[in-house]
Amino acid sequence: MLTIKVPATSANLGPGFDSIGLALELYLTLKVEGPQDHWQIEHTLGADVPADEHNLILKTALALIPDLTPQRIKMTSDIPLARGLGSSSSAIIAGIELANQLGNLGLTDYDKLQIAVRLEGHPDNVAPAIYGGFVVATYDDVAADAISAPVEHVHALTYIHNEELLTSASRAVLPKQIPLAEAVKTSSASNVLVAAVLRGQLDVAFRMMERDHFHETYRRDLVPHLAKIRAAAHECDVYGTYLSGAGPTVVTLVSEAKATTAFQQLIGLDLPGKWLNLGVARQGM
Ligand code: HSE
Repeated sequence: MLTIKVPATSANLGPGFDSIGLALELYLTLKVEGPQDHWQIEHTLGADVPADEHNLILKTALALIPDLTPQRIKMTSDIPLARGLGSSSSAIIAGIELANQLGNLGLTDYDKLQIAVRLEGHPDNVAPAIYGGFVVATYDDVAADAISAPVEHVHALTYIHNEELLTSASRAVLPKQIPLAEAVKTSSASNVLVAAVLRGQLDVAFRMMERDHFHETYRRDLVPHLAKIRAAAHECDVYGTYLSGAGPTVVTLVSEAKATTAFQQLIGLDLPGKWLNLGVARQGM
């Protein structure tokens, strides 16, 4: 039996809009048995997840190899849909790997990144889903590139809001242009964030995560709980709260030493969603 396991991802980390992401220990898993007369997808994820060729995993695999031999796929996932934890990216990566393995394509991680970014449109979820850890990525019309680095002893205190927020709706509120002064402030914070992670200066990195003016400034009315969680985290002397991807999930990254105390404080907030204390996934798919 073939098993494919892909982590959830949290994108942006504040100022790293469409460029920085983190793999989290929350997974989409496929167990693949075949061959069969026709495709069979079994899951208990509800009616929103198709169990036929409209399923994003299978659609992605069949886009790469249209005559792929049908299989029986048992799919389980702890990644909530449309919450800002990269569920569609994880499905795309799973589909690419399904075609790669069944069709013996011999794709490298770099090849998978090129295909995934063309399908997803930006690399900050698909890249950490492939590489694991903390990933910085870029893309243009020609190619995507990504560098991953491990981050140790960091927890992601993750608030999953109870209502969906579609990425398309959350991107629709973004301006077409950003004032130069705001762009300079944000891109320099993003540069320092990356350097701080690479040097292991996590306190600096966490502070930089709260200096975004590329997207959170425009999305804050969609996610009023972001300000509430950030303020509560500051009361525990914790400074790494950001909107995960396009939201509505909010993540507070915190050192292992402060994680338990901060988590207890945050889960006491009067909010309708659910909280998870997640580790960073070292491995991608
Ligand atoms: N960087 C993307 C955004 C992630 O913030 O819109 C969502 O998929």
